[in-house]
Amino acid sequence: MLKISTVIPYKLKPTVIAIYPGSFDPITLGHLDIIERGSKLFDRVVVAVLRNPGKAPLFTVEQRLCQIRTATKHLPQVEADSFDGLTVAYANLIGAKVLLRGLRVLSDFEKELQMAHTNKTLSTEIETVFLATSTEYGFLSSSIVKEIARFNGSIDHLVSPHVASEIYQCYNNPSIHS
Ligand code: PNS
Repeated sequence: MLKISTVIPYKLKPTVIAIYPGSFDPITLGHLDIIERGSKLFDRVVVAVLRNPGKAPLFTVEQRLCQIRTATKHLPQVEADSFDGLTVAYANLIGAKVLLRGLRVLSDFEKELQMAHTNKTLSTEIETVFLATSTEYGFLSSSIVKEIARFNGSIDHLVSPHVASEIYQCYNNPSIHS
């Protein structure tokens, strides 16, 4: 007798949208690692740049969006956007059910868990999913990249080439290649 499957055929499954929120000032290879791996798990990944008037960033939100779009142009299911206010409000606005975050070291965990719990109290529908950062990027942060570049070091191994050249320009760093 023909067995009727209760599993929903792939094509009929609802689209799962994940947002990957952050400052991305600038996007590093560590961020890119999370985006690439997240894009294999979810149908769409929206890299969401927080418009944070409380911070003095190196790059404007528009510059950061441009850097992210160039760095992810090989990933068709990834897009970049900016948002104001609460991350969960933005997630609900675009129909995202997942909030993606990377975990590097143990010290990230406390802050990230607090954020995940806070977000859960604000919106029970949204699940935070943590991806362990690949070991080679465990030390990497946007702040470290900026610090190295500010003191004339090379950041070519830490960010995409187009991002590196924009950072070198900001700091008038002789490591500049183009
Ligand atoms: O790249 P960052 O700075 O680690 O990103 C932090 C970010 C933007 C994800 C976090 O600060 C955030 O979600 N801010 C938006 C305000 C918000 O939703 N606050 C409640 C959760 S703590």
